[in-house]
Amino acid sequence: MCGIIGYAGFRDARTVLLESLKRLDYRGYDSAGVAIIDKKLKVYKEVGEIANVERLIPKIKGTTGIGHTRWATHGGVTKENAHPHVSCDKKIAIVHNGIIENFSKLKEELKKKGHTFLSQTDSEVIAHLIDDAYKGNLEDAVVAAVKKIQGSYSIVAVSEDEPEKIVGVRKESPLVIGVGDSENFLASDITAFLKYTKRVIFLNDGELCVLTKNTINVVDKNRKSIKKKEELITWNVKDAEKSGFAHFMLKEIYEQPDTVHHVLRGRISEIEETITFPENVEKLLSNEINSVHIVACGTSFYAGLVGKYLIEQLTNIPVFVELASEYRYFGVRNESSLVIAITQSGETADTLAALREAQMSGCKTLVVTNVIGSTATRISDGYILQQSGPEIGVAATKTFTSQIIVLFLIALKIALLQKKLGSNELYNYIFHLKELPRHVRDVLERSNDIIAIAKHLKDAKSVFFIGRGINYPLSLEGALKLKEISYIHAEGFAAGELKHGPFALLTKDTPVVAIVTQDETYEKILANIGEIKARGSTVIAIAEDKDTEIENHADFVLRFPASSHVLPCIAITVVLQLLAYHVAHLRKCPIDKPRNLAKSVTVE
Ligand code: M6R
Repeated sequence: MCGIIGYAGFRDARTVLLESLKRLDYRGYDSAGVAIIDKKLKVYKEVGEIANVERLIPKIKGTTGIGHTRWATHGGVTKENAHPHVSCDKKIAIVHNGIIENFSKLKEELKKKGHTFLSQTDSEVIAHLIDDAYKGNLEDAVVAAVKKIQGSYSIVAVSEDEPEKIVGVRKESPLVIGVGDSENFLASDITAFLKYTKRVIFLNDGELCVLTKNTINVVDKNRKSIKKKEELITWNVKDAEKSGFAHFMLKEIYEQPDTVHHVLRGRISEIEETITFPENVEKLLSNEINSVHIVACGTSFYAGLVGKYLIEQLTNIPVFVELASEYRYFGVRNESSLVIAITQSGETADTLAALREAQMSGCKTLVVTNVIGSTATRISDGYILQQSGPEIGVAATKTFTSQIIVLFLIALKIALLQKKLGSNELYNYIFHLKELPRHVRDVLERSNDIIAIAKHLKDAKSVFFIGRGINYPLSLEGALKLKEISYIHAEGFAAGELKHGPFALLTKDTPVVAIVTQDETYEKILANIGEIKARGSTVIAIAEDKDTEIENHADFVLRFPASSHVLPCIAITVVLQLLAYHVAHLRKCPIDKPRNLAKSVTVE
């Protein structure tokens, strides 16, 4: 949700903070601000784009400061509610990501003590709590303040009286240190400071850090000094830039031949006839597993639904896919089930809560994530990295396809461990997996066909997506992609369900995108298409190259290559992504930053 950056170094803090905020704006934001210590603490904030803040800041000299992009939770989108928030004497400033649950009570107490509040946010209490406890040492005051707070937070604070220092603390919200030479950074995301350093230190819940340009001190919740391991990030700045594409989303769609290759690399081997994961993950998969529970949100949840078909088919182990926001409060916890959390960011609040719930109930937990060092990787029994590089567009694309591939590899590994898969079969699977990057490239090369169809959809009020079997979750994802970036109402359905209700909404003005694969459901989906056509609606089929029959049924056909039945869902997904992208582009929508959405949902 909100993006945070702190800087202590030798460079002009104004430039570093603005540059970092621009890199963080993909998180979704409605306002932004910075506080820079240039002898005095100076705060600049504004609603709307970061450029609006940039215009406000004169050329000042300070080399210590903090910045924030806000995604409103408590209090409307106003300049007063934008961060940083300051103490009454305007000497202390804070930025915050998270939710302070007991802020009303704290605010009343602070008001009685004479504090004056300028905003409607929960975050402002933090500045006043720190101020209340401040006796010349910022970290002491931050420790005292967070003792009173209930909720989730990552906080970065500065004080005019200690002009070279920034203090950060976290609980259930991400915060990572960027280690430089004579400069240090503190941010909600690595991409914020990737331009300056790839050396990082991840903070755990309850840890507090004090940074100056030459020192980094981290303490645990008992204020015992801890030695933290520094890690090297392999992402590079180019990964976090558009590289000539009109949008990050398009760039990320086009990266998929590579990301599909990367997620397979080092994990499949025909020679050794095996699938390889880190040792602790292999141990988790070799346990006696009587069921798998997958917990996730949004697109990751749909990847989980795809995973259910893949794992059940190869292993016979029942798979239950649960929305993390529901699982955290409801549902069966079974100690002998493996809980797999899927989260691109590794920071989604509901997914982390579901993971913790599962662990507290004695389940073993495995995480599929794209972000090394993310909270999810640190609170699970094992994790598998998607290796997709940073995903900046709010709409998940390349990370969805890599999540599906990881789930398929998990299915293959369990099947191998259960001796349900022979070496010939595995060889065959691996052979076809290696063809996937080529299939993706093939779809990308046909983007003109997709643009032509997008023109038919751009003025629709509502679009249905249908599929059967594994294509059902793809239809859900296709609909989600379209609705979130084009603002056209879209729903995904299991094709067999149409006559149980959704047909009531179908008119001749409702285009239907039907995913058609030549498997055991082929005749059934053709029959569904017939039922739809009988109601006068336009049908756009997404069908295999070799399907010559489909043209007799659908109005338009978008093709994908499928030389085998190994994960045709990857190529189909790319068609769906490009379709959503081009419809949104034709409608001139802000594709990378859809209204009201944030890349990383770090609050409940
Ligand atoms: O980071 P996560 O995978 O946990 O994110 C979960 C959802 O917020 C996310 O998949 C969201 O639905 C997509 N950005 C939509 O395209």
